[in-house]
Amino acid sequence: MKIAVVKEQAAGEARVAATPETVKKFIGLGAQVAVEAGAGLTASIADADYAAAGANVADRAATVAGADIVLGVQGPDVASLSGANPGAWIVAGLNPFGERARVDAYAAAGYEALAMEFMPRITRAQSMDILSSQSNLSGYKAVLDAAAEYGRAFPMMMTAAGTVSAARVFIMGVGVAGLQAIATARRLGAQVSATDVRAATKEQIESLGAKAIFVEKVAGIEGEGSGGYATEMSDEYKAAQAELVSAHIAKQDIVITTALIPGRPAPRLISDAQIATMKPGSVIVDLAVEQGGNVEGAMPGEVVVRHGVKIVGHRNVPSRLAADTSALFSRNLFNFLSAFWDKDKNAPVLDEEIGNAIRLTQGGKVVNERLLG
Ligand code: NAI
Repeated sequence: MKIAVVKEQAAGEARVAATPETVKKFIGLGAQVAVEAGAGLTASIADADYAAAGANVADRAATVAGADIVLGVQGPDVASLSGANPGAWIVAGLNPFGERARVDAYAAAGYEALAMEFMPRITRAQSMDILSSQSNLSGYKAVLDAAAEYGRAFPMMMTAAGTVSAARVFIMGVGVAGLQAIATARRLGAQVSATDVRAATKEQIESLGAKAIFVEKVAGIEGEGSGGYATEMSDEYKAAQAELVSAHIAKQDIVITTALIPGRPAPRLISDAQIATMKPGSVIVDLAVEQGGNVEGAMPGEVVVRHGVKIVGHRNVPSRLAADTSALFSRNLFNFLSAFWDKDKNAPVLDEEIGNAIRLTQGGKVVNERLLG
């Protein structure tokens, strides 16, 4: 059983799919591990550290030659996998809807592609969930990015020269990233409020010491669909939400948006007209910018200024904390493969529930329901 860890190819991707810690653990299971030279450098891991953990550090061709499993953060190009064993597993965040052509190429080449972002949200898979592990740190980083762009302080400060008032921070979308954003902004001393469409988040917001801003008395406000994800809301709800948010936003210094609906473009939460009501110098961070954006005018990879308000749209926020996000991502991959490790076969064998959820290609075909519909 040979596991290959490839250097990421996507522009701006600083993470790596294994750390010396997980390399050691894979070897402990009975696998051989090869790591492409330089794979960890942008995540502060030297080749020598992988070698010390027992990996064979080599060039790309030698790394993938004879591999049974290839690990990536994002999906590697199919051409770069030549030499891997027939039917090899490609295990990574494969962006199945956005990179459909690459999924088809994995199928044509006979690989079995496993999309880690399709991991079902069930208790036993929590430790394998890359969306949670990466979103958590994105929520933290979004607050730091906002603080860095903001020309004022976050905490209230009483000084001999007078008082600096606390920043007002509003978090829209309280999933994994939003909860961490609330906690981080609170730690920095801001006055924090938050909103979501899922009624269950109200208590979570309050338990973190923030104020919950919620649409009340509108039909169908539960907002929760399968797996704890949000659903698309009614027009009546959207109108009530827009009104509530408009009044609140005008008083905020920082707004961080994280709202996503699986399989759909991100919901639009803030219009240009609402931005115009904010004070000059305010900052908006749109964490959903790559999924279509929650904020009108947000641009992927850019900080734009509209009506004196900075709109921050960094791409690939997890990559901005590559050492920590790589460590968590790598553990997600190890937790996943080791949970299914069959000692006699010295290989992982997936069960039906998880296998069917994440397997995109097998036997030369695309087999995942979500891609066939
Ligand atoms: P997500 O990244 O899909 O969305 C972020 C947040 O945006 C969600 O809270 C969603 O309700 C909210 N949202 C969507 N449309 C909105 C709108 N129009 N206005 C305001 N907010 C809107 O969600 P994420 O972070 O993946 O978490 C969703 C839920 O799943 C959470 O309750 C989380 O605790 C749960 N979860 C469960 C796991 C498990 O059991 N294994 C693992 C990870 C998360």
